[in-house]
Amino acid sequence: EWTPGNVVDELVESIRDQVGEDRVLCALSGGVDSSVAAALVQRAVGDQLTCVFVDHGLLREGEAEQVEKDFVEATGVDLVVVDAQERFLTALAGVTEPEAKRKIIGEQFIRVFEQAARDVVGSHADEEHPVKWLVQGTLYPDVVESGGGEGAANIKSHHNVGGLPDDLQFKLIEPLRTLFKDEVRQVGLELGVPEVIVWRQPFPGPGLGIRIIGAVDAERLAILRRADAIARDELTKAGLDRDIWQCPVVLLADVRSVGVQGDFRTYGHPVVLRPVASEDAMTADWARVPYEVLAQISTRITNEVTEVNRVVLDVTSKPPGTIEWE
Ligand code: XMP
Repeated sequence: EWTPGNVVDELVESIRDQVGEDRVLCALSGGVDSSVAAALVQRAVGDQLTCVFVDHGLLREGEAEQVEKDFVEATGVDLVVVDAQERFLTALAGVTEPEAKRKIIGEQFIRVFEQAARDVVGSHADEEHPVKWLVQGTLYPDVVESGGGEGAANIKSHHNVGGLPDDLQFKLIEPLRTLFKDEVRQVGLELGVPEVIVWRQPFPGPGLGIRIIGAVDAERLAILRRADAIARDELTKAGLDRDIWQCPVVLLADVRSVGVQGDFRTYGHPVVLRPVASEDAMTADWARVPYEVLAQISTRITNEVTEVNRVVLDVTSKPPGTIEWE
């Protein structure tokens, strides 16, 4: 019988058989898949597992804390946090072209993770049980679609952890490869993974870096982070989280328009709301979010984020639009 409890028991047992007493490494992104995979391996082999979380500074409000504090508290995972925010900002300085941004973020990510992996591996090198395994949150649909549905046509270079150098020879452990997304969520809940992580909507690896149209810097990230937090808050309050596939908030950082606030002229930036309905992200329709909810989001963003004086709605389906703007 399929119950989350049975699945956890089975997977835990097979992970134990697989890794024995070896040590295991996992890259935590803050997303559902890597978090549930890590929690499972933690349940199976406890402190033989070390997780590495690279904070690239492109996450949304509260997300780094959810990984660093809540996830660790809930699962007891041994976590190494690498604060690489400066490094990513420096590498991204002045870069506006979407593919260039993606390439830079992907490369920096690999480099930072690689170094962290070397450190973890090195610190156990002399032991009887060295680090041999790398956890990946591969799901069943990724397996059957070989190469994954997302970005298969190479319209955008999606980045995930991969391409580790040959001298870091890990064997892969993919505990979720028989599961669908909704099953992964049930398993996550069974393992006590925090609900904010279990129910997280898709979020791109390059994060807010590809939701700022124009160059990325700390100030722009702060503006977008606040606007995004408001939109998410209102959509959640309206009970729309499970109806909407995701709702990117995009900052048009190089665009300004004139507005008025109180008795004063403003000259601020627009943000775009991009709520979409989708089954698999390959195609999408713009989501018909109720007007009252849109109005509330707009009022709050323009009141609370002074740099933003206009909120616009993206009503393009995919195709021809992609979900993300970059
Ligand atoms: P697009 O913009 O191509 O997005 O319609 C489809 C889905 O993929 C997500 N996305 C990414 N996910 N790394 C990821 O892991 C990426 O580089 C990336 N780019 C887009 C996007 O949020 C949507 O769910």
